[in-house]
Amino acid sequence: MAGTLAGRVALVTGAASGIGLATARALGRMGAALALVDLDADRIAATAAQLRAELAVDAVGEACDVADPETCASAHAALERAVGPPSVLVSCAGINAQEIKPLHEQSFAHFERMIAIHVHGSARMAALCVPAMRAQRFGRIVHISSILGLVALPWRAGYTTAKHALVGLTRALALENARYGITVNAVAPGYILTPVLEERIRKGILDYDRYAERTPVGRWGRPEEVARVIAFLCEPDSAFITGAVWPVDGGWTMRGDPGDDLGPRPEPVRGRDDGGSRQQSSA
Ligand SMILES: NC(=O)c1ccc[n+]([C@@H]2O[C@H](COP(=O)([O-])OP(=O)(O)OC[C@H]3O[C@@H](n4cnc5c(N)ncnc54)[C@H](O)[C@@H]3O)[C@@H](O)[C@H]2O)c1
Repeated sequence: MAGTLAGRVALVTGAASGIGLATARALGRMGAALALVDLDADRIAATAAQLRAELAVDAVGEACDVADPETCASAHAALERAVGPPSVLVSCAGINAQEIKPLHEQSFAHFERMIAIHVHGSARMAALCVPAMRAQRFGRIVHISSILGLVALPWRAGYTTAKHALVGLTRALALENARYGITVNAVAPGYILTPVLEERIRKGILDYDRYAERTPVGRWGRPEEVARVIAFLCEPDSAFITGAVWPVDGGWTMRGDPGDDLGPRPEPVRGRDDGGSRQQSSA
């Protein structure tokens, strides 16, 4: 197939749904052979078959939990055997915050899982892919951070920490690999209507209108709108863009109000200055 990534292999994690699926489709349209991973073997095999039929490109799927070093290594090896070494890596595997409460009230396992999937998973896949990219003197790596990689909201400490860490990982890898034809960038999506979030909206767990209102363009984004930026960053001609974090958020992060409720102020501790913002110390 013709296209700017013809003859290249693109590895996309979390490719069975949402931003990962839209990204795989966009990279396939650019002519890349697709090496796809996701948690469930049947689902990712079905996704690969669907994209093979739709785009007439090579596409293979492997089951892999990106938080698990062994399945990452075995999936990477199997995909490399099937379609060749990846020169594009987009790490989309991820989950939303499941326990939305203060850190000290969450299970610590939840915090650790956030870091394991988003940070360890992305770093591990990059470490597996970089040697072949260096040998080819060509590589494109894109991480999926978030608006919560740029600013913070309360009660999502694990997710926010993980998404900020991905910005650091992006910059560190961009510097390490800049002389080898490898660029490393991140996108920072705002509220994107992916199947999981659509389901939460349907169930009344998430309020579409509230977040649409907070977003300057007045709506949620679509997975394809994120994939479009990722695809641009993966173009061979995007060689001079590295270590950058691209918000795809309808203007959410440029808006200056907090947009979320920090909760009531606690009573000041008796006899201590509370910072001078609410009460003058009597001392
Ligand atoms: N949807 C949004 O509003 C939004 C906003 C900012 C960032 N993001 C990020 O975008 C990325 C993609 O999310 P999405 O919204 O497309 O969600 P999604 O649920 O539609 O897709 C995520 C995919 O990752 C897979 N996955 C989850 N854990 C995995 C693991 N341990 N190993 C391998 N695969 C795994 C899931 O099975 C799923 O197919 C995530 O990192 C998410 O944090 C999403």
